[in-house]
Amino acid sequence: MAITVGLIGFGRMGRCYLQTLQQDQRYRVTYICDPDEGCRTLASQLCPEAKVVAHEDAIMNALDVQVVVLCALCDSRPEQIRRALEAGKHVVTEKPLAPLIEQEWQAVEAAEKAEQERGLFATVNMYLLNSWYHHEMRRIIDSGELGELAIMRVCHMTPGLAPGEGHEAEGPSFHDCGMHYVCLTRFLAQSEYKTWHAQALRMWSWKDPWWLQVHGTMESGVVFDITQGFVYGQLSKNQTHNSYVELIGTQGFCHMTHDFKTAVINLHGVNTTECIEHPHGGKNIDILFAQMAESILDGHRQPDMPRLRDSAIASEYAWKFLDDARQHEMPAIGNLDELERIRERRRNLKDGYGILPRNNKNIT
Ligand SMILES: NC(=O)c1ccc[n+]([C@@H]2O[C@H](COP(=O)([O-])OP(=O)(O)OC[C@H]3O[C@@H](n4cnc5c(N)ncnc54)[C@H](O)[C@@H]3O)[C@@H](O)[C@H]2O)c1
Repeated sequence: MAITVGLIGFGRMGRCYLQTLQQDQRYRVTYICDPDEGCRTLASQLCPEAKVVAHEDAIMNALDVQVVVLCALCDSRPEQIRRALEAGKHVVTEKPLAPLIEQEWQAVEAAEKAEQERGLFATVNMYLLNSWYHHEMRRIIDSGELGELAIMRVCHMTPGLAPGEGHEAEGPSFHDCGMHYVCLTRFLAQSEYKTWHAQALRMWSWKDPWWLQVHGTMESGVVFDITQGFVYGQLSKNQTHNSYVELIGTQGFCHMTHDFKTAVINLHGVNTTECIEHPHGGKNIDILFAQMAESILDGHRQPDMPRLRDSAIASEYAWKFLDDARQHEMPAIGNLDELERIRERRRNLKDGYGILPRNNKNIT
């Protein structure tokens, strides 16, 4: 018997989830919900066997929904997490869990209580925790090839989501996207943040920073820097990105980069010089759903399945780093006319970095 799923939110991520679930024999999507009529029309076309509804009530009340997948925006999420768990359903949710950090911690508490008392599982799409290349880098640290880990350098800059284009509930780009890298740095260090200093920039004179760099120390003594911005050649003729993770130890180092198709780790260890290359793996949604299916079928949580707690901690630090940046000089460079040109260009792009669906009726 397949595990039954109700999808809430049928935008860009909702469609990725559907595609993955349709390829996994262990699952059957029975409901899709979106208030937007165009999204519902598309959902009926792509998944004719599912009941397509405008309001989440039908999913929360349905007996043939074991797992609720929450991929609307975070303003509606706290209530959806609470209702799904109360209705006895497992939860796969997008990040961040809620607009306010207090609400995120309430969601964590509710999920942990539901797992302990009723065997319900909740996970969150902190997809960098499920990337093969980050697990490989952890293995390299543990192998001693780097000596003692000393410095972590993390960078992710793309011509992605522009200010005012969507996702407003999720905060500036360092929160919406940067929280993934805040989570990753903790994971690689296996330690908590201790001290930090953040510098941000209001690109195109937008009210919020769209680029931020933070550096500081972890409790373990390792130092880090994280750079994130959707500012990388937004109007360049041919777009590209700059994404890397570099771990420098007392004796060796390793460096990872990817082009979203292939990820490559170059290890310069004390005994080994190696180039490890495999497909990038995208958002690893297949891995997330495999972890959830195995947890449900075994009745035990898969140890690597990301926890809501991971997301809340990363979100809280991302907000703290943004707050810290606001305490310092935050220059504004560029102007809103440039930003309008960027938005206009992105409106007309069919394929690109983080393009949101515009006319849901016509998207296939
Ligand atoms: N984990 C990741 O790497 C990653 C990547 C991209 C987006 N996200 C997150 O996924 C979420 C969705 O992002 P997206 O890019 O798909 O956004 P989107 O705007 O494309 O889609 C959101 C959809 O939710 C629908 N919606 C709004 N309120 C709703 C409600 N109350 N009930 C049901 N549906 C509702 C909207 O009509 C829309 O179709 C966001 O929280 C975003 O931060 C995560």
